Amino acid sequence: MDNFYVTTPIYYVNDKPHIGHAYTTILADVMCRYSRSLGRPTFFLTGTDEHGQKVQKAAAARKMSEQSHCDETVVRFQELWKKLGITNDKFIRTTYDYHKKVVSQVLQELYDRGEIYRDEYEGHYCVGDERFFTEKDLVDGKCPECGREVVKIVESNYFFRMSKYREWLIDYIETHPDFIQPAFRANETLGFLRKGLGDLCISRPKSRLSWGIELPFDHDYVCYVWFDALINYISGVGYLQNEEEFKKWWPASYHLIGKDILTTHSVYWPTMLKAMNLPMPKTIFAHGWWLTGREKMSKSLGNVVDPMQMAEKYGVDAFRYFLLTEMTPGQDASFTEEAFVRRYNSDLANDLGNLASRVIKMIVKNCGAVIPEAGAMDDASLALLADFDRARDEMERALAEMKLDQGIGAVMGAVRSANRYLESTAPWSLAKKGETGKLAMVLHTAAEGLRRAAVLLAPVMPGKMDELASALGLGENYLADHAIDSLSDKSDVLSGKKVSDITGLFPRVMAEKSEPAAPEKNAPAKSAAAPVKTAAENVVELIDIEEFGRVKLVTAKVLEAEKVEGADKLLKLRIELGGETRQLVAGVAQYYTPEEMVGKTIIVVGNLKSAKIRGIESQGMLLAAKTKGKLKLLTVDGDIPSGATVG
Ligand code: MSP
Repeated sequence: MDNFYVTTPIYYVNDKPHIGHAYTTILADVMCRYSRSLGRPTFFLTGTDEHGQKVQKAAAARKMSEQSHCDETVVRFQELWKKLGITNDKFIRTTYDYHKKVVSQVLQELYDRGEIYRDEYEGHYCVGDERFFTEKDLVDGKCPECGREVVKIVESNYFFRMSKYREWLIDYIETHPDFIQPAFRANETLGFLRKGLGDLCISRPKSRLSWGIELPFDHDYVCYVWFDALINYISGVGYLQNEEEFKKWWPASYHLIGKDILTTHSVYWPTMLKAMNLPMPKTIFAHGWWLTGREKMSKSLGNVVDPMQMAEKYGVDAFRYFLLTEMTPGQDASFTEEAFVRRYNSDLANDLGNLASRVIKMIVKNCGAVIPEAGAMDDASLALLADFDRARDEMERALAEMKLDQGIGAVMGAVRSANRYLESTAPWSLAKKGETGKLAMVLHTAAEGLRRAAVLLAPVMPGKMDELASALGLGENYLADHAIDSLSDKSDVLSGKKVSDITGLFPRVMAEKSEPAAPEKNAPAKSAAAPVKTAAENVVELIDIEEFGRVKLVTAKVLEAEKVEGADKLLKLRIELGGETRQLVAGVAQYYTPEEMVGKTIIVVGNLKSAKIRGIESQGMLLAAKTKGKLKLLTVDGDIPSGATVG
């Protein structure tokens, strides 16, 4: 198995970390956690980019030395990574001596070999991006990267002979399909290269910018910040310091970057490495942008999402989960708090949290808190475990192909199958009927599903999955020692394990902005089950059984009911739904008194997204037949426990 070395960009120390930075770093962390759990030697490098004009300006504005300014601001990144559970093996700062020394040595060697030369330069400089552009690069006379004004500069500078590697690089990209990923980014780079490639200006005169690494062969200049920064990927793993360490990790398996810094990584960096006679990284992977709603996230628009705040509000694991499931690596994704809350409640609170609390509660109640042996499994139980096997294969494939969202989706699909399995096997009624053999099989199988979900999701939600594993009676370090591949071992690990309750694994959260208020409008937005009126009124579109199957109708028992103050049509109900209690707001107050409601077994939509009605959260919708002036609740014809499937 090859060693695995993953890097993130080193972030500008001036920036306040936002979800863009958090995403790249969490993605790297998840890949490294998976890799380590497979026993693969793994190295994870992140850090900060501390030289350049922006830092010099910011420090001057604060009347501080550049170094003290960096020492203060770097902490924001370090604290955030700690909070987010990032397991980087090293944190590199470009102001560290070892890094500066390596950059200096690289510069000297390239200069000695004629790869760097001095020339008169006339170009257009973008202060924001700290990059030079030629006349033809400009778009409408402005910076092609950020659209800001550029300044024309004529000065003597040092250049790296990048242009001579153009043909080689085109050929390398064409013959190494994994080198730049996704493939359309490789095409983008090829398009850029085919337009021609100049030499790279790698110096800045100190008269203009002094905060940088001094050129070893000319003390009047400092090194261009990108030339300095890119070298972190090798100085961070021992280059020119510890050749053994360097050999162990280089070439990197993945440079994870955002699409904003593709050219520097797919053109500057490979040509620099080529000039240094070093092997190319295996894959440069560029992910898309996080947008706020539909807008680009930017300081000036004031729509930057603060990752620290999100993690504090909703929990680190939920935040990690959301970022990884919401973005298809390579494409842009949109962040809104509503979408976050929706996904949290449906995937984590409803599907996974609910499964865990139901299964564990039933084991506590019916099996003395000890996971029973399964005995001979029936087809439904084997089918459920086969779903988890498929999820494991899918996750392995997803990791190899950088499609983590799909891998996680497959695991959550299996979790939903486990919930359906519980509804169809109805262990609560098996318990009532005293069918202990079947009950043991069902509870064991569902607990096994939970164990597999915990193993598969541990790198994404390490804290919460540890809680789940310990609630299943598995030792504290169970997940650290059991990787995906341990799931191919089919021996029984759960029988006899003592479970402990975990009701609050993912407590439901309220949406910040209220959703449609009236109970009638509370139907699922895209629910196919609601007959759709077409242009010709009264023509009802037919739906197929699968569409109907998406709506989960279940029996529920009304435990408590009370009037909603100031709303004469509404009752607030507490209902029991197979081991779980929920709150529901229903527009039935004109037809039923609270006393009449209590004790009834009603039918509710169990998988409806929660909504706020008059500021009160409603976690579902009850069914009733209604005609002019009359409303009758749908109930069942006889005794059946709550949580039973209707359909
Ligand atoms: N310092 C350079 C990188 C040098 S690497 C040798 C830099 N720093 S940065 O602070 O601007 O961070 C850029 C990186 O942050 C992006 O490549 C991406 O990883 C992440 N993101 C910043 N904003 C982003 C979004 N809005 N969306 C997604 N990620 C983006 O560039």
